[in-house]
Amino acid sequence: MSDKLYDKILEIALKRSILIPSAELYNAVSGFYDYGPIGVLIKKKIETVWKRMFIKMHGFHEIESATIYPEIVFRASGHAEHFADPIVTCKKCGMKWRADKLLEERVGGSYDGVSEDQLTRMIKDNNIKCPKCNGELTDVARFALMFKTTYGGESKNIAYLRPETAQGMFLDFQRIFATYGSRLPMGLGQVGKSYRNEISPRRILIRLREFTQMELEYFFNPEIDDIKEFEDVKDVVIPIMGKDNQNIENITVLQAIEKGYITNKIHGYFVVLTKQFYDMMGVKEYRFRQLNDSEKAHYAVGAVDLEVNTSFGWIEAVSLAHRGDYDLSSHSNLSKKNLSVFDDKVGKKVMPNVIEPSFGFDRLFWCVLESSYRPVTDEKKWEWFDLPMFISPYHAAVYPLVKKEPLVNTANDILRSLRGKGLDVIHRATGSIGRRYARADEIGVAYCITVDFDTQKDNTVTLRFRNDGRQVRVPINRLYEIITLFTDNDVRTLGGSKKVEEFPVVK
Ligand code: GLY
Repeated sequence: MSDKLYDKILEIALKRSILIPSAELYNAVSGFYDYGPIGVLIKKKIETVWKRMFIKMHGFHEIESATIYPEIVFRASGHAEHFADPIVTCKKCGMKWRADKLLEERVGGSYDGVSEDQLTRMIKDNNIKCPKCNGELTDVARFALMFKTTYGGESKNIAYLRPETAQGMFLDFQRIFATYGSRLPMGLGQVGKSYRNEISPRRILIRLREFTQMELEYFFNPEIDDIKEFEDVKDVVIPIMGKDNQNIENITVLQAIEKGYITNKIHGYFVVLTKQFYDMMGVKEYRFRQLNDSEKAHYAVGAVDLEVNTSFGWIEAVSLAHRGDYDLSSHSNLSKKNLSVFDDKVGKKVMPNVIEPSFGFDRLFWCVLESSYRPVTDEKKWEWFDLPMFISPYHAAVYPLVKKEPLVNTANDILRSLRGKGLDVIHRATGSIGRRYARADEIGVAYCITVDFDTQKDNTVTLRFRNDGRQVRVPINRLYEIITLFTDNDVRTLGGSKKVEEFPVVK
């Protein structure tokens, strides 16, 4: 096995059906990954925490919009015009390559926002050839990133798969605003698939062609660019780089606003929420970075990314953009329907502005796997994932100590009871108990419940905690309560009201 962490994680993820290359029977097309059973269990739990933290706790609204829209939507959003990558094509073998990425790899530095002419000159000056066949490369051209399709029988009905979930929130804004009290501010969010026809999808989950986004659009009156929750977080210290500063400063979010790195208090509030969310997921090495004008998306007034240091280097994991009124104004213009709204706080119509925290789910998932991976040690002779308890794929595994009655029957009763209450539970009756514990650890199962010979006497079982193998005896009728105390996350306490160190000694 390679000593690179990403190779190790991928091997484990494939071996344990966390991830599966899509259509692998047919050699799999790169840029597409399926989540296997364990991957899905973790994914759904992470999505639940995100929704709770970014949508439900604030009384915002969740939607699920279409993933295909007619072309006009993307003319309005600017994606039809702006959403393209600079590419070169090999004159010999025909392969296409991202010009900016070739330069990054061969020369170093960042080439965001550099013009096609400049990129062409740099490729020539540095004598860069096709990485596959060493052939001559063409001049740099733009390659549209959206997947194109048509709807119905008419080839003129052009549509695109959405490159971001955000447009659904802008398109549905007017109707939902009217339904929900016609008051600003209002938050609309969704978790769903987006699609980008990347020229060179790479690095496993980091650059995919089909991926999950978790996005919130917070609509507010630009004359009232404050949020009451900011007061509670204004002194939270964040690691951040200003656009003209290559050093990380550890400053409060209020200072970051005063220095102009973050556009306003709403933006600052969501930066802190993002930090807290990543902390809860156990990801340690991250920084915020203010984007410069050439890096910002076409719709952004100001933008800050959350970047995580992974075994692939620093990667962008969250984008926090102030989108101004770009989207609502553009949709007003093209649809000829005025999307401005009356705000009774100022007694006039305003075009809402938007702050958008946009999470790439798959990148987060990768960061969580990397941060929670634990290698073999003297104490634990198997690799395992120290996942935060509330995103462990299974809450528990139930084992009869030996495959004999009445132990098996009791274990099955416990299994059915916990599953009936909505917990994810596995079971296994065969193999040594030590080996079964090891298998459970490997996939991050939070607790193992063992039914033994004493169970029949006093209705208790042993409950074993994943991280350090501690065991306590617990009455069967308290299992659900104790397991959920430690695996059900309360976002108000940022990681659960109970810490695993407080694992109880139950008599
Ligand atoms: N909604 C922001 C993005 O997808 O880039």
